[in-house]
Amino acid sequence: MSFEFHARLAVTGAAGALGTVLRAELARAGVRTLSLDLREPSRVHENETFVRCDLADAEATMRALQGADAMVHLGGISTTAPFGSILSANICGSFHVFEAARRHGMRRVVYASSNHVTGYYPSSERVRPDMPHRPDSFYGLSKAFGEDLAQLYWDKYGLESVGLRIGSCYERPRDPRMLKTWLSHRDFLRLVERALQAPNVGHTVVYGVSDNPHTYWDADPANVLGFTPLDSSAACSGTLPGEGPEPERQGGGFIEVDETALDP
Ligand SMILES: NC(=O)c1ccc[n+]([C@@H]2O[C@H](COP(=O)([O-])OP(=O)(O)OC[C@H]3O[C@@H](n4cnc5c(N)ncnc54)[C@H](O)[C@@H]3O)[C@@H](O)[C@H]2O)c1
Repeated sequence: MSFEFHARLAVTGAAGALGTVLRAELARAGVRTLSLDLREPSRVHENETFVRCDLADAEATMRALQGADAMVHLGGISTTAPFGSILSANICGSFHVFEAARRHGMRRVVYASSNHVTGYYPSSERVRPDMPHRPDSFYGLSKAFGEDLAQLYWDKYGLESVGLRIGSCYERPRDPRMLKTWLSHRDFLRLVERALQAPNVGHTVVYGVSDNPHTYWDADPANVLGFTPLDSSAACSGTLPGEGPEPERQGGGFIEVDETALDP
């Protein structure tokens, strides 16, 4: 994989699951990386600078992102939660990150959106990235906000961005829903690489999903980035516990959660 950058690539959410996978690949490729997270990653690589930073803190985020010329924004709460914590980490956090990217003159932001932006669509429907948002949770709502924020920053300020509506990115599928939603680590890395390198993306949103036998989404628009997935969940079909009837809505378990009833 080739990652070519003029200066430094910032990665938010560096200590998280996907941040760890991505940073290992960036280290192998010799990319200078500026990593941000609330907590220290288990390993800081050569060519990498780590800054502990709460993305909810506007000034700290602005300071921490100085010197980067592109960014992969993975940081934030990665499941659904009460509105207050989603508001500070995901909504305010994304605003601070995009505003820092604008003020520091970055050329592009790759934004980790989520399939939960459209989780309320029926499981029987094939969803394209240009269809209206139907978030299934406060989490999905925050990712819809992030996509619109990215659109605004392209239209108003010319900051390029790619929103990746990541399916389920794990080493292998863990449950029956993931047979449709799985994105392998290898395909995730290739998708991020294309999202950073493809020319003239303006503001683009694509689903991030491997070449699974069935999926909820039209993944073809990812081809505009020059991305074609290499992996498939096919080999795991029939091997996962809990295979049963298809849930009515694509968001699966997120549909059932009533965040208003969770402790703040
Ligand atoms: N893993 C998936 O299958 C998947 C699917 C869809 C979307 N995504 C999105 O991709 C991104 C990365 O996912 P992940 O699985 O690595 O999640 P993760 O929860 O493992 O990592 C998120 C990281 O963000 C950091 N973080 C949280 N709040 C923060 C704040 N206020 N300031 C700074 N850092 C903060 C956490 O400490 C954590 O290290 C997330 O934005 C997630 O919503 C992931």
